Amino acid sequence: MSDFKYFKHLDDLDPETQYLVHRATEWLEHAYAPYSKFHVSAAVLLEDGNIVLGTNQENAAYPAGLCAERLAVFSANAQHPDKKIKKVVIVARKKDQKDLTPAASCGGCRQVMLESEKRQGVPFEIVMLSHDHKWVLAPSAASLLPFAFSKNNL
Ligand code: THU
Repeated sequence: MSDFKYFKHLDDLDPETQYLVHRATEWLEHAYAPYSKFHVSAAVLLEDGNIVLGTNQENAAYPAGLCAERLAVFSANAQHPDKKIKKVVIVARKKDQKDLTPAASCGGCRQVMLESEKRQGVPFEIVMLSHDHKWVLAPSAASLLPFAFSKNNL
């Protein structure tokens, strides 16, 4: 899709996004992923500059676990209900590895981010490492989930 921007190196991203990548990466150690060993962290930047961090939290009852970005976005909405989300940055790393690994947000998280975006009435950017190891910047949650289910379908 032409709306997406791609960046080969972290340094090519704007300083704000680089900082969010840094904060999310730092927070990866707080992921609780003993089953998948796939650690994910998300940094949610709010309009007032606050940053809400979240990591994936797994559970022995597997489906009860939660993805990092979903947790972070819900948490931002719960803790700062009046603040709009400006950007969500998602990073992942496999246990005991040094480098980040690609992680495209799952469909359920795209659905959650889309509703959050609709609620606030303003699109927010989503940044993640794509499968070809390029940073991808999506201009909105809507751009990541065409033909989405919404409350209008109810
Ligand atoms: N996971 C995320 O946190 N975000 C995603 O977008 C994809 C998957 C987590 C869920 C689970 O804890 C682990 O990664 C493996 O699927």
